[in-house]
This record gives sequence, structure tokens and C-alpha cells, in this order.
Amino acid sequence: MAFDFDKVVDRKNTFAAKMATELVGASDDVLPLWVADMDFPTAPYVIKAMQENADFGIFGYAQPNDDYFDPIIKWMKKNFDWTVNASECTYTPGVVPAINVAVRAFTEPGDAVIIQTPVYFPFLMTINGTGRKMVTSDLINKDGKGYYEIDFDDFEKKIIDNDVKLFILCSPHNPVGRVWTKDELTRMGEICLKHGVVVVADEIHMDFVFSDHKHTVFATLSDEFDNIAITCTAPSKTFNLAGLGNSNIFIRNKDMLARFNKEYENVGMPHMGQPGLIACKAAYEGGQEWLDELRVYLKGNIDLIAEYAEKWDGIHYTKPEGTYLSWFDCSEIAKTDAELDDLFLNKAKVWLNLGSPFGSGGEGHVRMNAASPRSVIKEGLDRITAALG
Ligand SMILES: Cc1ncc(COP(=O)(O)O)c(C=O)c1O
Repeated sequence: MAFDFDKVVDRKNTFAAKMATELVGASDDVLPLWVADMDFPTAPYVIKAMQENADFGIFGYAQPNDDYFDPIIKWMKKNFDWTVNASECTYTPGVVPAINVAVRAFTEPGDAVIIQTPVYFPFLMTINGTGRKMVTSDLINKDGKGYYEIDFDDFEKKIIDNDVKLFILCSPHNPVGRVWTKDELTRMGEICLKHGVVVVADEIHMDFVFSDHKHTVFATLSDEFDNIAITCTAPSKTFNLAGLGNSNIFIRNKDMLARFNKEYENVGMPHMGQPGLIACKAAYEGGQEWLDELRVYLKGNIDLIAEYAEKWDGIHYTKPEGTYLSWFDCSEIAKTDAELDDLFLNKAKVWLNLGSPFGSGGEGHVRMNAASPRSVIKEGLDRITAALG
């Protein structure tokens, strides 16, 4: 391997949220394997670009142009066979802000927005926070072991019954780790088209798919889907740049793009910062080799997690098809948040995300982040094994 993902970097005293054990009232000896950023420094090519920018020393307002956009076009074409144009792109300091703006732009207070729970909790916070009506179609954990599927009948019925106006799709899905197939995406898209539902496709985890799974960009499936889609992408998960606030949102429908941009101005959100632009351009330009190796490394971590989880009584686990997040069903041994905290935070001294904020189906679950050096992951797994006794 050309890149050293085994190296442990001490992130203490760097303002890293991941290390802020005071957030959960835990002591410093707790191993943080929660929030979705990685313990790996980004690709060397990106670091070099950022170093040059730091030497330059001026961090003013930024304006994306063709020079910025060119590597994005090439990345999307090469990795997803997706043709994107700068004129269809809008630039936000994060995917969560973009989702918030989309909900405000395409629905009114009181309108129904559908999500597939359990799902990334800011979706729930956005719907509640904007005064929209939350409609949930639970994913089905058919075998009880953590492989989730869509209940299409329920999805369509909920849309009809509640006159749903907007769907926030999580693809690949955080936290259940599914990489939706073309068939699944097509069925969801057809239902949305039929009932006039706008689709906000959060595809931030698009670059993390494993084995023979393949990410399909929802908007590439048909012109009709493209016409109702807001596709949210970012280099932040892929290259560990979350702190730089940089995402690229694609809206091909011109009226929708105008509406989104107008709402964006109305809420007074900032645009992307210059360091984020520099990092994004460099990442898509020179980060492919690093990412290819990283994916192999992460797959090794996930395999290790599966080896351990197989031996844990009362915890069910299915390897994620995509994302570097692992979702454990602990409901047989710890149902409530207090019981989960007692097991993981207090006894094992491992800090994971509780499942309950992810909505219906999240209770009795925890989410572990596998994007750390193997020795750290192993330490976490050993601690959990010991706590289970
Ligand atoms: C599905 C999903 N969307 C969005 C985000 C965060 O996006 P941002 O930091 O760009 O707002 C995350 C982070 O974990 C995520 O998992």
C-alpha cells in the first residue's frame, strides 16, 4: 500500500468533535467511534494544495468557476457515468444545509415530507425544525439480522395518504448501509413521479461502496427522475474534509434550481469558503488512488467487525454494502438508551452513536464508525467483547 492507514493520529486538543467526550459526560479513556468523520489524514495531494493555500495566506470570499468544476465533472463521469454541468450546480457549505433549504423551497409549513427510517437524524431534525409534517416509511429488517429492504406498498400508501410533497432519499443509506439497487431506486422514483413528489437525493456516501456493489446516481436513471431531483454530493465524507464545509448540489430542472437559489439567499446562509474549494478541487483531481486504497482498508475493518460480531451473543450485525458505518441490533440485550449507554459507554468504554435519534427502528441499536486505523477498531471490538463477558 502506498498510503499508511495504520498510523494512529492523536486528535486530542484539535477541536475535533469526535474527541469531545464532555458531550456525553464520559471520561477521556472512552474510545470515540461515533461521529462520521475519519481518523485518517486526507489524501497527500489535498494536503499539499492546502499547504500552498496556507502559505498564500489570504482567505477571502470565494467564487467557483470552471477551474473548480472541471475535476468534479471528470470524477462524476468516471465513477458514476454521470454527466454534470456547472450551470446545474449550486454550492453550499454542507449537505445538511442544502437539505434544509430544499425542504423550505419545495414545501410549505405543514406539508408532509417522507423519510425511510431509521435514517440519518438531521433529516428528522430538519423536518421538525421547519414545521413540516414528518411521514416515515420504516425499512424492513426482514431476517432480523440487519439486512434492510424497502416496503414499497407502505412507501406509496404513506405518500398518498399524507399528500407527501418531498422525499429525502439517503443513498447509500446511513445507518443501515444499503446501496440501493437500480431496481429499488427506479421503483422509488416511479412512485415519486406518479404522485408529484420532489426527491432530495442525499448521495454524500456515494464513494464508499464495497465488494461488487455499485452506486447508481438516482438522477441518472431517467430524464423524468432528473427533472424532480436535487442531488446532494460532497467530497467531505470521501476525503475527510467535513470541517471545510463544501458540497456540490445538482438540480437540472431550471425552475427548481432558481427556487432553491432564491430560498438559499432568503435564509442568509453563507456560500462555501475558499479553503473548501481548494480542497475539493484537489481531492477530485488527485485523490483517486488514495481513495481506492482507503476503500480496501475500510473493507478490511468491516470484515474484522463482522468476525467479532459473529461471536457476540444477543447482537445482530450485517456488513454494510456501503458507507463506513456499522449498525448493530442490540435489542435482545439492551433496549433503552440507558441500557445501551451502560453497556458501551460505561462498561466497554467505547463511544458509539445511539440508534434512537435515527427514528423509528433505531431504538435498541448503536452505530459504529469503522474509519479508524485497524488497531483502534480492534481495541474497540476487544473492549466490547470484554464488556459482554
Ligand atoms: C447521509 C448524510 N448526509 C449528510 C451528512 C453531513 O453532511 P454535511 O456535513 O455536508 O452537512 C452526513 C454525515 O454523516 C450523512 O451521513
